[in-house]
Amino acid sequence: MEEDESRPSKRLSLLLTIAALSSILRLSAAATTDDDVMAKLAKSLWPAPSGWSGTNPCEWTGVTCDSSGHVTAINLAAKSLSGELPPELNQLSRLKSLSLQHNRLSGAIPPLTNLTSLQQISIESNHFSAVPSPFLVGLASLQTLSLSDNPNLLPWTLPSTLADSTTLTSLYADNSSLFGSIPDIFGSFPNLQNLRLSYNNLTGSLPASFAKSGIQNLWLNNQAQGLSGRVDVLSSMSQLTQVWLHKNQFSGPIPDMSACTSLFDLSLRNNEFTGLVPNSLTTLPKLANVSLENNKLQGPSPNFPKGVLVSLGNTNTFCNPCDSQVTTLLEISGAFGYPMALADSWSGNDPCKGWKSVSCDSNGAVIVLNFGKQGWAGTISPAIANLSALTTLLLNENNLTGSIPPSLTKLAQLKILDVSNNNISGKVPVFSSGVMVNTSGNPLIGKDVESGEGSSSGGMTVGGSGLTTSKSISRWVIGATIVAAVVFLVVSWLVIYKRFVKRRSGKYMCMKGSRKRSEQLKKSGDVGAKGYSGYESELPSQSSAENSSIQVYDGGNVAIPVQVLREVTNNFSEGNILGQGGFGVVYKGQLPDGTQIAVKRMESTTTTSSKGLNEFQAEIAVLSRVRHRHLVALNGFCVDGNERLLVYEYMPQGTLGQHLFKYRELGLSPLAWKQRVTIVLDVARGVEYLHSLAQQSFIHRDLKPSNILLGDDMRAKVSDFGLVRNAPDGKYSVETRLAGTFGYLAPEYAATGKVTTKVDVFAFGVVLMEIITGRKALDDTLPDEESHLVSWFRRLLNNRNSIGKSLDLSLDPDEETFESICKVAELAGHCTAREPLQRPDMGHVVTVLSPLVDQWKPANRDEEDSFDMDRHMSLPQALQKWQSSEDTRPQ
Ligand SMILES: *[C@@H]1O[C@H](CO)[C@@H](O)[C@H](O)[C@H]1NC(C)=O
Ligand SMILES: *[C@@H]1O[C@H](CO)[C@@H](O)[C@H](O)[C@H]1NC(C)=O
Ligand SMILES: *[C@@H]1O[C@H](CO)[C@@H](O)[C@H](O)[C@H]1NC(C)=O
Ligand SMILES: *[C@@H]1O[C@H](CO)[C@@H](O)[C@H](O)[C@H]1NC(C)=O
Ligand SMILES: *[C@@H]1O[C@H](CO)[C@@H](O)[C@H](O)[C@H]1NC(C)=O
Ligand SMILES: *[C@@H]1O[C@H](CO)[C@@H](O)[C@H](O)[C@H]1NC(C)=O
Ligand SMILES: *[C@@H]1O[C@H](CO)[C@@H](O)[C@H](O)[C@H]1NC(C)=O
Ligand SMILES: *[C@@H]1O[C@H](CO)[C@@H](O)[C@H](O)[C@H]1NC(C)=O
Repeated sequence: MEEDESRPSKRLSLLLTIAALSSILRLSAAATTDDDVMAKLAKSLWPAPSGWSGTNPCEWTGVTCDSSGHVTAINLAAKSLSGELPPELNQLSRLKSLSLQHNRLSGAIPPLTNLTSLQQISIESNHFSAVPSPFLVGLASLQTLSLSDNPNLLPWTLPSTLADSTTLTSLYADNSSLFGSIPDIFGSFPNLQNLRLSYNNLTGSLPASFAKSGIQNLWLNNQAQGLSGRVDVLSSMSQLTQVWLHKNQFSGPIPDMSACTSLFDLSLRNNEFTGLVPNSLTTLPKLANVSLENNKLQGPSPNFPKGVLVSLGNTNTFCNPCDSQVTTLLEISGAFGYPMALADSWSGNDPCKGWKSVSCDSNGAVIVLNFGKQGWAGTISPAIANLSALTTLLLNENNLTGSIPPSLTKLAQLKILDVSNNNISGKVPVFSSGVMVNTSGNPLIGKDVESGEGSSSGGMTVGGSGLTTSKSISRWVIGATIVAAVVFLVVSWLVIYKRFVKRRSGKYMCMKGSRKRSEQLKKSGDVGAKGYSGYESELPSQSSAENSSIQVYDGGNVAIPVQVLREVTNNFSEGNILGQGGFGVVYKGQLPDGTQIAVKRMESTTTTSSKGLNEFQAEIAVLSRVRHRHLVALNGFCVDGNERLLVYEYMPQGTLGQHLFKYRELGLSPLAWKQRVTIVLDVARGVEYLHSLAQQSFIHRDLKPSNILLGDDMRAKVSDFGLVRNAPDGKYSVETRLAGTFGYLAPEYAATGKVTTKVDVFAFGVVLMEIITGRKALDDTLPDEESHLVSWFRRLLNNRNSIGKSLDLSLDPDEETFESICKVAELAGHCTAREPLQRPDMGHVVTVLSPLVDQWKPANRDEEDSFDMDRHMSLPQALQKWQSSEDTRPQ
C-alpha cells in the first residue's frame, strides 16, 4: 500500500523537479539577456557609473530587479554620463522605469517599443541627436514620458502611435525639436494631466481631442513658427489650471472659459487674439496671473479683481466706456469671428476715424459698412439693426452662413443690402420697396434649413442678376409693382431714347435692322432696370446672333460697324487693355492708318443691369453734350446685342494715378511740381466748365487720379463720366445710390446722398493733397491715423513745417516751389472743408491755381484753356477716310 502511494508521489516530485529545473534554465536564459543588455549599457557609458561592477546587474547602484532577476528600473539621473545608449535597451522586457535625465548622453534614443511594463521614461536634458523609427509604439503602461531639453534632436514629429499609451499622465517634450502638428490623439489619454511642448516648432491648431483629456497643465508657448487657429477647445477643458500659449499665432477671440474654475495662470500674450475679453474670464475664482499683452483685443477694458496679476500691454485697444456704435460694430465683427483685418484698423472709440470698411456721415453716424470680398466666415449679426443711419451694407463674396436677420428691416435708411456669393440660407425678410437686396450666389437662400422646408423659394431670382424679394409679398403686390415698374421704365426709357434720336435727328445714326432692333434695345433696358428693383420677371430671350444690330456713333459724321472695333482692338485682346474704367474695360485700338483710340467695353454683366445701362447712357448723354479741351472726348458709341461700346480719344500718357503712385513700377520719372500744378489746373478748368454750363450743370461725382488722363504734352483731361449727374438750376439732387470712390466722397454726400457741385470740389481737394504728398486717398498700408489722407492732411495744415515733412519725396522743392506747394495745400484744405458752403467753387479754384502755373509760363497763357467748346473733336480724319470706303452708311 505504502509503495503504491509513494511511487506516484516520487514520480510527481521528479516531474516537479524537472519542471523547476527547466523553468530556472529558461528564466536564467531570459535574465541572461537582461545581463547582456546591462553589460552593453555599462560599457557604452563614460565614465563607468559608480557602483556598476560585478556580473549581476541586479546588484548595481540604481538598478532594480524583480524576484526573477529581471531589470525593472534603471536610475542614472544626473551622473554626468556621456556615451550612446545601445538599441538593445529595448529588450529589457520587464523594465518599468528608465531614468537617465540630466546627463550628456548622445546618439539616437533607443526604439522603446513593445515594452508593455514601461511606466516612466525620463531622458530629459541630454544631447540625444535623433529619435528612432519606430518610436513610442506599444507602450501600454506608460505614464510619464519626459524628453524635454534635448535641443540637438533632429526635427521629429509626435508619433500617433503614442495613442497606445492610454495610461499617460504626463508628456514633457519642451525644447526638443518637435515640428509639425499636434496629433489629434488626446481622446486616448483620459488621465493626461500635464502636456508641455514649449519651445518647439509645432504648427497647426489645437487638436479637438484636447477636450477629451484631463489636461491641467498646458504649455505650448514659444513655438518657432507658431501654432495657429482659434482656441475654442479651451472652454471645454474644465480641469485646466495653468495655460501657457504665449508666442504663437493663435487668433480669434478668447473663448468663454467659465468652466475652467481651477485655472490660476493664463498666458495668452504675443498672439493674434482679437475681440472682447470675456467677462467670465475676470470672475474665475482661482485666477491669479493673466497676461494678454501683444494681441489685438478690443472692447471694454477688462476689470479683473484686485490681487490678480494682469498684463494688458498697449497693443490691445480697449475703450472705457465704449461708444454705442463701437459696441455694436464689435458685435458685428464678432459674428465674423473678429477678423484681424478689422481688429488691426478698429482702434480707438470713434468708428468715424478711419475705421476700415466703415463710413460715417457728418453727424458721426455710421452709414456704410463695406465688408465685401473679405473671405470671412461667420454670420450676419442682428446688431447691425442698431446702426440706424445705415444706408449701405455690403457683405458680398464672403463665406457667411445663417440667415439674414429680420431686424435689418428696421433700418429706415437702408438702400443697398448685398449678400451675394455667400452661403446664406433661410427666408429673406421683407424689406421696404426702396431697398435693393442682392442675394444671388447663395444656393440655400429661401430654404429653411432647420425645418427642412426645402423647395419653397423665398428669394425669387431675376434672370442672371439674382435679385430677390420676400415670398410673403403677395403675388398681387408683385404683379402690380411689376406693371408699375415696367410702365415707369418704358416711359423713362422712351424719354431718353427720344432725346437721343431727336438730337441726332438721324444725322449721325447708323442702324441696321432699325426699328426691330430698337425694340430690343429698349427691352434690355427694361430688364436691367427692373432687375434692380428686384421683381420677378423673365428675361426676354436675347439672341445677339440675330442679324439685326444697332451700331450708333455719335459726335462725328461717321459710322462704323462693331466689327471694326473688334478688329482694331485685336478682338478685345488682353494685350490691348489700357485699364479698368467704371463698369468696363478700356482697350487700346489702332486704326489702319495708325491713329489710336480707346474703346470702353461695358462689362457684359453690367449691360443687362440697369446700373450698367445707366452708366452707359449717362456717359453718352453727358459727353455728347459737352466738349472741352480738358474733358476727354467721346467719339462714338455702339450697341450690339449685349455689347455696349464707347469710343474715346486715346490719351497716350495714361492716368495721373499712374504717374503719382506707380511711376517706379512703370519706369516713369516722377512728375515735377510744375507739371502737377498744370495738370490740376487743367482738371479744374474741365470741371469748372462742367459745373458752369449755362443750361445744365453737370456733377462728375467720381473725380480721382485714375480718371484724369494725360496726353503726350502732359496736359490733362477728365474722363469717366459714367456717374455724372445733372444738376438743374444749381439745385441738388438726392441720390438713392451712393456712387463714387471711398476716400474722395464728400461727407455730406456720403451721409445724405445729397449731390451738389461741391462734391466735385471736395474730391478735387483730395486730388490736390495727393499731388502734394504722393499718397493715395486711402492707404491701408499706412498706420491708422495716416491712412485716410483727408483727415491726416487736414491735421497738418496748421503748420508749414509739417507740410514740408508730408511732401512727396520725389518733389524736393526749392523755396519758390515750396511757396507754391503751400498755396495749393491751403487750397486743398479749403476745398475739403466739412461744410459744402465753405468750399470754394471751381471758378475760384482756377483763379487760385492759374497764377501758380503762369509763374512758369507768364507770357503764354493758353487761350484755349478758357471755356472754349471744341466743336471740332470728332473721329479722326483717317477713320472717316477709311470708313467712306466701307459704304455702310448714307451721309
Ligand atoms: C511590437 O508588437 C507588435 C505586436 O505585438 C508586433 O507586430 C511588432 O512587430 C512589434 N514591434 C517591434 C518593434 O518589436
Ligand atoms: C533647451 O535645452 C538646452 C539644453 O538643456 C538648454 O541649454 C536651453 O536653455 C534650452 N532652451 C530653452 C529655450 O529652454
Ligand atoms: C519650422 O518648421 C518648418 C516646417 O514645418 C520649417 O520650414 C522651418 O524652417 C522650421 N523653423 C525652425 C526655426 O526650425
Ligand atoms: C505669473 O506669470 C509670470 C510669467 O508667466 C511668472 O513669472 C509669475 O511667477 C507668475 N505669478 C504667479 C503668481 O503665478
Ligand atoms: C441694440 O439696441 C438694443 C435696443 O436699443 C439694445 O438693447 C442692444 O444692447 C443694442 N445692441 C448693441 C450691440 O448695441
Ligand atoms: C469659403 O470657404 C472655402 C473653404 O473653407 C474656401 O475654399 C473658399 O475660398 C471660401 N470662399 C471665399 C469667398 O472666401
Ligand atoms: C453651406 O452651408 C451649409 C450649412 O448651412 C453647409 O452644409 C454647406 O456645405 C455649405 N456650402 C458651402 C459651399 O460652403
Ligand atoms: C448681384 O450680385 C451679383 C454677384 O455679385 C452680381 O453679378 C450682380 O450684378 C448683382 N446684381 C446687381 C443688380 O447689382
